[in-house]
Amino acid sequence: MTRILAIETSCDETAAAVVEDGRRVVSNAVASQIEIHARFGGVFPEVASRQHVLAITPVVEEALQAAHLTPAEVDAIAVTRGPGLPGSLAVGINFAKGLALAAGKPLLGINHLEGHIYAAWLHEANQQPPAAPEFPLVALLVSGGHTELIFMEDHLHYRRLGSTRDDAAGEAFDKVARLLELGYPGGPAIQQAAEGGDPEIFAFPRPWLKGGWEFSFSGLKTAVLRAVREIQAAGNPLPVAHLAAGFQAAVVDVLVGKTLQAAAELQAKSIVVAGGVSANRLLRERITAEASVPVHIPPLHYCTDNAAMIAAAAYRRFAAGQRDDLDFDLLPRWAIDFVG
Ligand code: KG4
Ligand code: ZN
Repeated sequence: MTRILAIETSCDETAAAVVEDGRRVVSNAVASQIEIHARFGGVFPEVASRQHVLAITPVVEEALQAAHLTPAEVDAIAVTRGPGLPGSLAVGINFAKGLALAAGKPLLGINHLEGHIYAAWLHEANQQPPAAPEFPLVALLVSGGHTELIFMEDHLHYRRLGSTRDDAAGEAFDKVARLLELGYPGGPAIQQAAEGGDPEIFAFPRPWLKGGWEFSFSGLKTAVLRAVREIQAAGNPLPVAHLAAGFQAAVVDVLVGKTLQAAAELQAKSIVVAGGVSANRLLRERITAEASVPVHIPPLHYCTDNAAMIAAAAYRRFAAGQRDDLDFDLLPRWAIDFVG
């Protein structure tokens, strides 16, 4: 059995976890900064780094204690190497390097996006392991910074089919939420506001960008802005629920449509949906209902940033023989097809 302790500090969650054999989550500690950043309406990088400095030691201790392990008892230490906020990444990376050095354990630097995909392999410690995603698969990775459609023929083999040309899906949720004064983070706020809305009232555009697997969400965001301005200019109150429902339906239509098309064309045996936006209920329901192959979507707490997913990806790399030097640098904002 291989036990990996992983650390994730790429954005606004300080997280540490212990995972066995890339699947069984033994412990998963997350200190969220959401309440602090909500005051600024978004993530404030310097505030984020400082919160990581404050939280990193207690969070790693919590993950080890909950797993009843010391650093000497794990097989490797993994850490998110990027992409992410440089100052935030540095806190986790330096902590992991120090820990690996002190405990004499191998260190693995992991791409955050790869981590999100591997969240689909995780299961709770008290649960029978569910069926793992079967290859070849199509992964839809939708987070605050990325919207990527990826083809995987096997573990650690990524081919990027397409990504967003402008805003990421989560970014669009966040920007439209700000427009509708729903607060931060926007995804959950839009989802909640949309509950009481009719998605048919505002027929926002479905940006298809024909002839490829690319996405684009900035036109949709502009369409919502235009609708908001027109309503406000007429002196009417904003029908926030209908606007939120219309926007959410348009995003989900595009994400589901393109993913299913890619899966069919590439004869995928399964579909993985990952990243913060995969927490969206409409997206989860629609893609599960409409796909003709099994769809693997992590439980909600493994969709948003966490360290268990980093341990899951690290396990595959550890098993493949990867060991990183203790002097590695941050990964720049590279796409996943640069991984490995
Ligand atoms: O993966 P993640 O936690 O962090 C990044 O790596 O970016 O993703 C965060 C993004 C945010 O944009 C947030 O608004 C979005 O995921 N999100 C959602 C939902 N929950 C989080 N978007 C739509 N519906 C949700 N329920
Ligand atoms: Zn993320």
